[in-house]
Amino acid sequence: MANSPSFEKLQNEITALEGAFKDALDGGSNAEPCESLRIRFLGRKGSVSGLFKQLGALTETERKTAGLQINALKESIQSALAGCGSSENAGVVERTFDPTLPGDMPPIGRYHPLTMLLREIKSCFRRMGFSVADGPEVETEYYNFEALNIPKGHPAREMQDTFFISDDIVLRTHTSPVQIRTMETQKPPVRIIAPGRCYRKDTPDATHSPVFHQVEGLCVDEGITFADLKGVILNFARYMFGSDVKIRFRPSFFPFTEPSAEYDFSCRFCSGKGCSVCKGTGWVEISGAGMVNPKVFDYVGYDSEKYTGYAFGMGVERIAMLLYEVHDIRLFFENDARFLHQF
Ligand code: DAH
Repeated sequence: MANSPSFEKLQNEITALEGAFKDALDGGSNAEPCESLRIRFLGRKGSVSGLFKQLGALTETERKTAGLQINALKESIQSALAGCGSSENAGVVERTFDPTLPGDMPPIGRYHPLTMLLREIKSCFRRMGFSVADGPEVETEYYNFEALNIPKGHPAREMQDTFFISDDIVLRTHTSPVQIRTMETQKPPVRIIAPGRCYRKDTPDATHSPVFHQVEGLCVDEGITFADLKGVILNFARYMFGSDVKIRFRPSFFPFTEPSAEYDFSCRFCSGKGCSVCKGTGWVEISGAGMVNPKVFDYVGYDSEKYTGYAFGMGVERIAMLLYEVHDIRLFFENDARFLHQF
């Protein structure tokens, strides 16, 4: 069967290109720099790819033959250029490496602002004699709710929009379950903080994120009072925000503490005078706290006649936003390098 005109044309072009490459390579004093040869013959828009593009117009047998020919040509050009640029190829300009150029500086990583803050918080509490405890982020309903005196049907469960993995497995909605896990394995005296990630089905906005961090605190011993709690929180507030900061406790309710409180720090932006950050109140809410409910002690087998204790929570992002003057919580999770590089 006669060859198609496209095939004949391609044959001629292959031969012509072969010749053109030889000429270019033997150009003597007019020799082209290697890089330019590479681009001209092997580049994405170079002559060899131009040949490959024409294969589409051929019959299947022609395509096979011509394909092999073009590949062979490509390989021979590649191997001819492999040594090009080395000293044996005098006359061809060497441009691959300039030792006088300044080097590329690799971007250096750094800690995430929340990691740095958590380290500070841990360091502060370690100095006050607390150790650091850990618990799972995938938690059972028992630890996340039940043993914290939040039985099924209790309105406090509805307040925390929970991600359920199955009927009785959840993503923990707070770090309070670590209180229970710690007391189950340790006899008093207990003095721990439990930092970690928590999850709630919140729609993200400037102050809500479905993933966030808390630090839980728990101290149990004989003769522990609310005054101890206030002292520890005041010390922490001063450590983070300086000696001028004030704290206040407001009566509140949590099923796992009795009495319960919410605590605030004085607003550092307006020094308590009232601004947009503190919504004119002069105070910024940090989290909840209180004296451990004796019912919680019953769950873990502690003698509530003998021991008392306090517990507190802490919203890590809230503290970070105050400390670093960040007005949108989502920035901590978007991981935009322009934001992260500022810390
Ligand atoms: N777990 C509570 C929350 O996520 C915060 C909290 C309140 C923790 C009072 C405590 C506490 O330990 O005593 O909203």
